[in-house]
Amino acid sequence: MAKPKRDNAPMATRAKPYSKVDVAEDRFGVRRDRILRSKQMVRSYVLAAAVAAFGVSATDGALAQDTVKIGFILPMTGQQQSTGKQELAAIKLYMAQHGDTVAGKKLELIIRDDAAVPDNTRRIAHELIANDKVTFLAGFGVTPAALAVAPLATESKLPQIVTAAGTSIITEKSPYIVRTSFTLAQSTVPMAAWAAQNGIKKVVSMTSDFGPGIDAEKSFQSEFTSKGGQVINAIRLPLANPDFSPFLHSVLDQKPEAIFVFVPAGQGGNFVKKFIELGLGKAGIKIIATGDVMDDDLLNGMGDSMIGTVSAHMYSADHDSALNKTFVAAFKRANGGLRPNFMAVGGYDGMHLIYEAFKKTGGKADGDSLIEAMKGMSWESPRGPISIDPQTRDIVQNVYIRKVEKKTGELYNVEFATVEAVKDPVKAAEQK
Ligand code: PHB
Repeated sequence: MAKPKRDNAPMATRAKPYSKVDVAEDRFGVRRDRILRSKQMVRSYVLAAAVAAFGVSATDGALAQDTVKIGFILPMTGQQQSTGKQELAAIKLYMAQHGDTVAGKKLELIIRDDAAVPDNTRRIAHELIANDKVTFLAGFGVTPAALAVAPLATESKLPQIVTAAGTSIITEKSPYIVRTSFTLAQSTVPMAAWAAQNGIKKVVSMTSDFGPGIDAEKSFQSEFTSKGGQVINAIRLPLANPDFSPFLHSVLDQKPEAIFVFVPAGQGGNFVKKFIELGLGKAGIKIIATGDVMDDDLLNGMGDSMIGTVSAHMYSADHDSALNKTFVAAFKRANGGLRPNFMAVGGYDGMHLIYEAFKKTGGKADGDSLIEAMKGMSWESPRGPISIDPQTRDIVQNVYIRKVEKKTGELYNVEFATVEAVKDPVKAAEQK
């Protein structure tokens, strides 16, 4: 088998050593290794009894035909664990709300932890395909994890639903990939346009040094400069355990009007802490960012000095729609008050895509039929209207410009402008 390429996307290798069942639980939170074993025992028992009583020759496969397995690979441990936590909570919520039977098939969830280490992701995907015989591979908290599995999806003709990672190129790596998360350029291009139109002329860009950060840097810079702005320095931040201080310190001397920032989910809190500690805000430097930085999961911990900060993104827990209000309330109720973030909606919509594709194929479970069913699908998400571009299999969605405000004692990204139906700008430029 061809070794998957890593596409300018080095990744932390600090994962816990892989174990056969890292995180595996059923929808009630029971570890699945135990459940699987006991199910297998029951199944063998039932089959043995049928053969003895009626002389029928049944196979395990005959029973398994009615069960369809969805293998989610998520970072439940390590640096990206907030993504795993948010996604899993949303996936479970979707199943609790919509049941586990679709088009006559029982859906079974298998959750596996890759700690966002692509070697783990690849090995787990192998196991899910060969041993568990999954119908879907889903999740992928970071770009390198999604890229590691793309060749396996192609070879096994299984849909690979990317619910978290955001580098543009991912969907081009297999015809079996469909994305329900976002691309970085979907946020950075509207952010750059807003900044240029609102008097910001001189910016330092700071983005994490891996696939999505490089996309963010390039797409921001090209839009911002095309609108008359200037990026006076483009800094790439280390991805693993970054110490932001020396980088932020150097920016103080450069005196930009704003720093444009992308760091992945989970890191925004530390970035903002250092930004405040080193006095950049006091020096009159603004943050403009993708919503990954002003993450709903972290926002309340950032403190009131972030009030007024503008960012662009596809989801805010404050999004003003009836569906989102129901989603946020149900999510919080089921998760001890946890506020859903943008990763949660990626997972929630990934489940919706899987359920609806199944309905459309009438329960046909082959990858080609399912991918065809997904192309062009559109629905209302908690983030607003979304669809799957039939040409690229990438998500098309509204992007909102938002400002941090205090509402009923909590900080929220309050949306005040909308760019409608944004296609991935990187691929859109290639299509022209
Ligand atoms: C990615 O690895 O593609 C990624 C991870 C976290 C983010 C955005 C993108 O917040």
